[in-house]
Amino acid sequence: MNLVFISPDDATPWRKALRRHLPEADLFVWGEDEVDKDTINYALVWKPEPGLLATFANLKGIFNLGAGVDALLQDVSLPKAVPLVRLVDPLLSSGMVEYVVHWVLHFHRDMHVYARQQRERNWAQHANANTKKRRVGILGLGELGQNVAHALLMLGFENISGWSRTAKELPGLNSFAGDDQLEAFLSQCDILVNLLPLTKATRGIINKASLSHLPSGAYFINAGRGPTIIDDDLIAALNDGQLNAAALDVFNEEPLSNDHLYWTMDNVFITPHIASLTTPMSSSEVIAEALRDFEDGNTPDNLVDLNQGY
Ligand code: GLV
Repeated sequence: MNLVFISPDDATPWRKALRRHLPEADLFVWGEDEVDKDTINYALVWKPEPGLLATFANLKGIFNLGAGVDALLQDVSLPKAVPLVRLVDPLLSSGMVEYVVHWVLHFHRDMHVYARQQRERNWAQHANANTKKRRVGILGLGELGQNVAHALLMLGFENISGWSRTAKELPGLNSFAGDDQLEAFLSQCDILVNLLPLTKATRGIINKASLSHLPSGAYFINAGRGPTIIDDDLIAALNDGQLNAAALDVFNEEPLSNDHLYWTMDNVFITPHIASLTTPMSSSEVIAEALRDFEDGNTPDNLVDLNQGY
């Protein structure tokens, strides 16, 4: 079986990882190896140049080397008949759990306040918040959202709710679904976590109206996609106190431009899209399993629904 790897990332660790987990495959790295396109059966891709995948005539499957397929789906010539698999990898999930749990605890325990007090040499204690009372809401209850919810429940948070496009009943969670229930969901989120995929339906979903439904002084954590946010509305909410603080890992424009207002805001915590990075060794194991499913004539898990966009 012949694979092509198309990604701006360094191919070296992928060569090693795929040799380990998929020794029966021949890997060709686009831009490094000579590639006879017609002999390629599977493509492993991250942000390939639009139009490129359509020039491989014999693809049996495309693997997206990340959880979000939004960038790939912008390619209008993407071969629709070829199954597309998104990455669901235990290490990718645990990275996301760590990132979100970190910021939930950070805000829950006022660490942003103590950091400011340290700069002011101010020794002032504030009552500890109670995990039983703090209400955390997760937008997006897919693989990542469910893992985050589970971790927060294990930490003793008892008021966790989740919102998803279609109704999902998950143990221990208050579930909300669809546009009709978005306001009710938001109105009880002291800490709002966004893990939604970027689709036509979620673009700009965090805007002036939705932010106004949050309890005043709420916190916002964005580890989904930047364009689900209207930046000006988020900035206004952070400036007028509707939001207390935000932790942002993803942005409308990446890298975030040097002169962006977010850099200057005391109540904004920026990370450069590192909430959860794909790890070649772990991901190759998952991809190898899916490839063997394809070869055995079985349908692999985590196929993307092109109509839904995730
Ligand atoms: C990263 O953003 C991913 O989609 O995995």
